[in-house]
Amino acid sequence: MRITVKALMELSVIVHNHCGIVLKKNKAYLIENRLQPLIEEYSLSSFEELIARAKDSSKLTSHIVDLMTTNETSFFRDKKPYELLKEKLLPDWQANFGKKSGHLNIWSSACSTGQEVYSIAITLMEYFRGDIINHNIKIKASDISDSAIVKASSGRYSNYEISRGLNAVQLNKYFTKEDACWKIKDELRSMAYFEKINLLQPKLEYGRFDIIFCRNVAIYFSKPDRRRLFESLSSCLNNNGVLIIGATESLFDINEQLKRLDYNGTAYYSRIQP
Ligand SMILES: C[S@@+](CC[C@H](N)C(=O)[O-])C[C@H]1O[C@@H](n2cnc3c(N)ncnc32)[C@H](O)[C@@H]1O
Repeated sequence: MRITVKALMELSVIVHNHCGIVLKKNKAYLIENRLQPLIEEYSLSSFEELIARAKDSSKLTSHIVDLMTTNETSFFRDKKPYELLKEKLLPDWQANFGKKSGHLNIWSSACSTGQEVYSIAITLMEYFRGDIINHNIKIKASDISDSAIVKASSGRYSNYEISRGLNAVQLNKYFTKEDACWKIKDELRSMAYFEKINLLQPKLEYGRFDIIFCRNVAIYFSKPDRRRLFESLSSCLNNNGVLIIGATESLFDINEQLKRLDYNGTAYYSRIQP
């Protein structure tokens, strides 16, 4: 079924208002493909009808948003953030703060189907040589997509998903085979807790974190929304906390409260102290 220009514009407003994702006009085919199953599920005759229904149903709107999110991810995506974590951030934390507070709070803030969360967990496990129990470590994992969060929380991956970023040693050490899929082991799964969170909701009050991962999500937002997002995230950082963004992303001209740091060519950000 084809979407009209008017329906495309209305849908863009709904999706943008709900989650900040900007749907470009040249993406009509993508929208048609992704929302066609919903048209069939609800036995609707047009996209206009879908929009009219969505206006009265937050459940349907969430479903539309879920289908319009791009959940592309993989284990150890871009590798460098995990080297930064293992070689710089964790040693710094252990030397300066670990002994004092004993708490390490990490947030994977647009975690999609969880590969980022478990890559962090594996990095922690390797850094602390398995001695996780004696460190008070928590990884908050969130995304706006219901289906992505359900999958992330299940910790189950197909052979194809596993083949994207994990080596054989990590696979055998940290996953168990369950029927046709691989399941993350409980000791890693238990480091994380999962929540549905819209990063653009008006007040982002989700505690304070030592390390926030916010990778490959701001690229879908408008510049004012990117500004708002990074302002909120900066207020969720502990005094010495750091923010890690995507390899192709930048805060240049977006945020003045965060300063850019560099480790072996990988950018990361910390709050400018007043
Ligand atoms: C391309 S994935 C990135 C996943 C992971 N961070 C990575 O880099 O591999 C982008 C994720 O951002 C999520 N997302 C989009 N808009 C969001 C919003 N307003 N709040 C929270 N998550 C959002 C999508 O559901 C999707 O799972």
